[in-house]
Amino acid sequence: MQEKIIILDFGSQTTQLIGRRIRELNVYCEIVPYNKFPQDDESVKGVILSGSPFSVYDESAFKVDLEQLRGKYPILGICYGAQFIAYTHGGKVEPAGTREYGRARLTSFDRDNVLFKNVRTNTQVWMSHGDTITVVPDNFQIIASTDDVKVAAYQVKGEKMWGVQFHPEVSHSEDGTQMLKNFVVDVCGCSQSWSAASFVDTTVAELKAQVGDDRVILGLSGGVDSSVAAVLLHRAIGKNLTCIFVDHGLLRKNEFANVMHDYECLGLNVIGVDASEKFFKDLEGVTDPEQKRKIIGRDFVEVFNAEARKITDAKWLAQGTIYPDRIESLNITGKTIKSHHNVGGLPKEMNLQLCEPLKWLFKDEVRRVGRELGIPDHLISRHPFPGPGLAVRILGDITREKVRILQDADDIFIQGLRDWKVRDEVGNETSLYHQVWQAGVILLPVQSVGVMGDERTYERAVALRAVTSTDAMTADWAHLPYEFLAQVSNDIINKVKGVNRVTYDISSKPPSTIEWE
Ligand code: XMP
Repeated sequence: MQEKIIILDFGSQTTQLIGRRIRELNVYCEIVPYNKFPQDDESVKGVILSGSPFSVYDESAFKVDLEQLRGKYPILGICYGAQFIAYTHGGKVEPAGTREYGRARLTSFDRDNVLFKNVRTNTQVWMSHGDTITVVPDNFQIIASTDDVKVAAYQVKGEKMWGVQFHPEVSHSEDGTQMLKNFVVDVCGCSQSWSAASFVDTTVAELKAQVGDDRVILGLSGGVDSSVAAVLLHRAIGKNLTCIFVDHGLLRKNEFANVMHDYECLGLNVIGVDASEKFFKDLEGVTDPEQKRKIIGRDFVEVFNAEARKITDAKWLAQGTIYPDRIESLNITGKTIKSHHNVGGLPKEMNLQLCEPLKWLFKDEVRRVGRELGIPDHLISRHPFPGPGLAVRILGDITREKVRILQDADDIFIQGLRDWKVRDEVGNETSLYHQVWQAGVILLPVQSVGVMGDERTYERAVALRAVTSTDAMTADWAHLPYEFLAQVSNDIINKVKGVNRVTYDISSKPPSTIEWE
């Protein structure tokens, strides 16, 4: 059985980070809304209560019945979690006067306490709280303090229940990962055996049991998630997996053929559908970005469903949904603000069940699993690419000619990024492509005057876009070397008929976005 830690989410922005840190310790964990503790799950080895935007005495603050958990599982409360445990046991929590935010040092702590095993003297921790615990109940023992915060950490005497006022999950807490390790390994007894290889073994076995001899359909996009999901399923059920890859004609240059080739090399049974005619026809004359998205979404579902219907004995629809797509983030009203999207317009009569083998993985874990499965690096390290493809990178209406120009310019830029070798921070050779989060070219709805030879030209302008990011929520423009930009600009203007001007987008997100539409 896959042992796990449960993280009860009280709405803090750092809850996902707690999950990341624990997974990095090779311990499996799940983040669940504070009121959805999985009862009767024997694989739970410990519970972490996250922070929250609330004060414990707010009427609408999120509350759990600790008595359901206490004594059954080791418990660690973080920030609000710690305040909640103290408050509900008769302690006092008060506004901190000034909000305590930023770096602090544990000037004293009980080094014999298991939570602080291998923690360095005076270690730096990260504080971010408006309230502070001023009085702990009698049966609580204060085990750490900073200059400003007397109750920086406590343990309930004789029980496996701790609280920390600081955030061990953020990187500014120097020994935070060590403390989390002390909790999940030393206290909860987790074995740190969760890895990409163990994930593949367990998941292949589970998929075999779940799907049996049934036929499964999966929509491939050429992206990392659907590709990894497909190879994983293929390992479990082989030829009973049928993949459908729809070409809307708005992919990168030669991408459909290249990706089909990769999939075939991986042994996948893929039906490639060239539906570009339909998409171009339906997009004719459309300039509004949202309208473009709607048409592409609708056409995609139609084409996919028409193919899926042909597989009459299919019982399952598999998707490459990953964890961040599903984590139900809570907002301050307690309402779930992001809930699971799926299978929008799937034909009802097909009665398909949903299979999502990657639904518990973060993006970098999906990549590790992909490597473990032997998927080539150029598929795994691929930049994100929007579903509507080049349609949202052509400002204004879409024609085949514009797509051709953009594909050619984009190909020069992307190939250039791949070919331009640099050293990373530790001296290993890498490429600009691997150093940026995402890159592409945008075709602008402007023409400008240029001169080529003795000829005056009046042609199109393109913008190069390359950003660094960790999650696409925020992004900075990539500081690409001038020599590189000069070379790409030259290549595009010399080789791509119809373009006589290249610009570089130096906007960050926010206030701009990564895509132009
Ligand atoms: P923005 O432009 O909002 O993009 O900063 C953030 C990330 O989302 C991608 N993106 C999309 N992906 N359908 C998609 O599947 C879309 O309509 C879409 N719009 C933007 C974008 O490429 C970036 O990775």
